[in-house]
Amino acid sequence: MATYLSGIQPSGLPHLGNYFGAIEQHIALSRTAGEHFYFIADYHALTSSRDAKQLREQVREIAISYLALGLDPARAVLFRQSDVPEVTEIAWLLACMAPMGLLERAVSYRDKVERGLSANVGLFTYPVLMAADILAYDSDFVPVGSDQVQHVEMARDMAGAFNTAFGEVFRVPQHKMSSYPKVPGLDGAKMSKSYGNTIWVFESGKALAKTVARVKTDSRPPEEPKDPAGVLLFDLLRLFLDATELADWEQRVRAGGSSAPGYGHLKQRLCAAIEQRFEAARALRLELLADPARVDLVLAQGAKRARVKAQATRDRALAACGLRG
Ligand code: ADP
Ligand code: TRP
Repeated sequence: MATYLSGIQPSGLPHLGNYFGAIEQHIALSRTAGEHFYFIADYHALTSSRDAKQLREQVREIAISYLALGLDPARAVLFRQSDVPEVTEIAWLLACMAPMGLLERAVSYRDKVERGLSANVGLFTYPVLMAADILAYDSDFVPVGSDQVQHVEMARDMAGAFNTAFGEVFRVPQHKMSSYPKVPGLDGAKMSKSYGNTIWVFESGKALAKTVARVKTDSRPPEEPKDPAGVLLFDLLRLFLDATELADWEQRVRAGGSSAPGYGHLKQRLCAAIEQRFEAARALRLELLADPARVDLVLAQGAKRARVKAQATRDRALAACGLRG
């Protein structure tokens, strides 16, 4: 039986990029056969977080988001990374296998340094902890966006180095790319919290309409025939509409003329589609926000199940390298 695992940084409310690029795939996979582990990477978040209250709230927010969007805790183990401290022990064992050069090549580290962010040691060793997360649960598949593929490759390298030295202790995982590797934001660049171009999954009503109104368009009039491939709104509509309806809108935009929809129409359709797609999730989110004990219980039960597995891996690794037994 295959094991699937992924980690999610607790960095605020999810946007459409997070949903289509990661969360949707996680939830869909968790409905398939196999074992499924999804955790909130709060140890990783500490490489940049300096606000305890905010971190606590964001961990809760992301747990609620997953549950509201349909993750069934009976099918997938949902837990907080720091509830399984064994991963930090495994991370040490892996750190002793990882050449400096490997970590110096990590894109996430290099990017952050180049953007002038202070590089603490935690940030530098981020891929080692991530490798420990992946290897602790004997993962076969790690569903991630394209930005995380290099980290999964590094986990493979570290597992391989350990296994070569001490025998087959760690299962060597593979990444699994999401089907929407790059959802565009309001300005056409990759949707990202750091670019301020997001549409939030749980936004609705006037707030949503105001956000969608900001999707970049041009000044061509509705009558002018247009290639839908060059219209950003279609990249977003494609995420929601079924093929028949999408083809119909595309055909009308391509034809132009007096009955062609303008950008305003397309925006209205996009708003309605977002509202409808996440209607049930928005309601469930409000319920969960009002019932913190329910969320705490899910995370506590998840941690218990995850820990059993991580402890077994830790014990196996300690024995293999001579620290026990
Ligand atoms: P952000 O860029 O907003 O800070 P994160 O880096 O926290 O988002 O991403 C969390 C998850 O969502 C990752 O798995 C990432 O690959 C995915 N993701 C983020 N933005 C997008 C996007 N625009 N398109 C597809 N996937 C995305
Ligand atoms: N680094 C991942 C991100 O920023 C989060 C993460 C931490 C993760 N540990 C992981 C993802 C293990 C997959 C597997 O999105």
